[in-house]
Amino acid sequence: RKISISDDALAIACGANKVAEAFRKLVPDAEIIRTSSWGMHWLEPLVEIDGQGFGPVSIRDVEAVISGTSDLSIGHIEEHPFLTKQNRLTFARAGKTQPLSLDDYEAMDGWMGYRAARKLGSDIIIEMILESGLRGRGGAGFPAGIKWRTVADTPGAQKYIVCNADEGDSGTFADRMLMEGDPYCLIEGMAIAGLAVGADKGFIYVRSEYPHAIAKLRTAIAHCANIVAPFDIEVRVGAGVYVCGEETSLLESLEGKRGEVRAKPPLPAIKGLFGRPTVVNNVLTLAAVPYILAHGARAYADYGMGRSRGTMPIQLAGNIKHGGLFETAFGISLGELVNDIGGGTASGKPIKAVQAGGPLGAYHPPAQFDLPFDYESFTKAGGLIGHGGIVVFDDSADMMAQARFAMEFCAAESCGKCTPCRLGSIRGLEIFDRMAKDADLKAKHRTDPVAALPQMHNAPKDRARTISSDLQLIRDLCDTMEYGSLCALGGFTPYPVMSAIKNWPEDFGG
Ligand code: NAI
Ligand code: SF4
Repeated sequence: RKISISDDALAIACGANKVAEAFRKLVPDAEIIRTSSWGMHWLEPLVEIDGQGFGPVSIRDVEAVISGTSDLSIGHIEEHPFLTKQNRLTFARAGKTQPLSLDDYEAMDGWMGYRAARKLGSDIIIEMILESGLRGRGGAGFPAGIKWRTVADTPGAQKYIVCNADEGDSGTFADRMLMEGDPYCLIEGMAIAGLAVGADKGFIYVRSEYPHAIAKLRTAIAHCANIVAPFDIEVRVGAGVYVCGEETSLLESLEGKRGEVRAKPPLPAIKGLFGRPTVVNNVLTLAAVPYILAHGARAYADYGMGRSRGTMPIQLAGNIKHGGLFETAFGISLGELVNDIGGGTASGKPIKAVQAGGPLGAYHPPAQFDLPFDYESFTKAGGLIGHGGIVVFDDSADMMAQARFAMEFCAAESCGKCTPCRLGSIRGLEIFDRMAKDADLKAKHRTDPVAALPQMHNAPKDRARTISSDLQLIRDLCDTMEYGSLCALGGFTPYPVMSAIKNWPEDFGG
């Protein structure tokens, strides 16, 4: 008998190691295989026995699963609607292979793209990436082929491929899953990028919060060093700073300096790591490359809508019934994602808001659920798809608290280089605190005017200031931050704040 259980960090956190051990004890002659995760997080630990799935399995369920009396069966895993509705190109191997097995990787198209790339040479590889329409999956959506072309055309004896694996957006985990579950895919993508631009050295900058990914990457790099030689990769570990996900700050950190944002230009493509031409791409961008080289640019570009070609590994998180990784062609609507695929909230209450694109993304109300998931549509709606994170909130969410959180997050994570972000976020925080106090007092006055009277009397005498004038201050502040900040941290913090004010004015004590 073959029993597969994921060794992904999320599965382990849900008890996968203990469950695997329990199966080992109960059926010693069974082959226990530790695979990557299918990405159906609400079912973890998900156990597969000869193709049939059971989940979530705890150690108490092991006997029933083996004896065939368990009610945790989900049928044939690959036929689960959460999977059949997806277009898994980047995550084609998810759930099916052992992350560090070179045989498994090879058996499922591994190194096919790299072998093709070696024959094709730089110009054709770049042409293919351009034709595929692949855009930066870290958030900005800049065409990867143009970035590669810039690095290839910039003279330099030493060039670098830097993989941004500092996945810091709230509700995102696709980079982690890819690095833990299919590390050779990322290595293959980086090696192809190296061939394209003429770089023989790569760095993967991983956040320290991902110890499983770091260990798997290091082992995988050692296992396949001779396959991708002379391309050489080093894993570097960040120190838990959100702004080090910003490419220039990441480069500073890689150089051993404080993670502070550099002014652009010069672009990293021209003057990047140690002043050399450097490709900085997100994990998902690089991991999409082997498929394109192996199956052709058209095969990838056939998916998607408008200028958003290919697929996006979307991460469903927050208060959602069926959270997990959903890789699909661009164009699916936000409503389909959170209701049809995600099954609505885990709490069973109505959805109030969905934040797309991480902590700097806008909050979308159900009225915007027909928004198609693509870069341009979200930008037009005042938001962003960012790294594909979707966080769901039910109707108990307090949107003023969420707007305040955006300012608090910015204040905590600011690198301090520019004033609108460094000071603006603190001022924003102060204004929200003041507004919350005023709103509390107003509410108290409505329910118990006598008890509230002394506090009203002692309140600061600047009564000309009202909640609506504070809101105007916030709007002005957001304007300054959006247009005056040097990078996306200060520049995008207004998105969650302004979308919350616009869509849920009733939460702002007005
Ligand atoms: P950007 O628009 O300044 O640049 C995008 C990329 O294109 C950069 O790598 C830049 O160097 C490159 N580029 C621009 N023009 C170029 C040219 N002519 N030739 C070659 N390369 C060129 O955006 P930025 O500041 O790098 O990223 C902002 C995004 O980051 C936001 O949209 C946000 O969604 C995302 N983000 C992602 C996070 C994550 O955890 N993945 C965290 C925070 C923000
Ligand atoms: Fe640093 Fe904030 Fe300015 Fe970005 S916007 S450079 S994080 S101070």
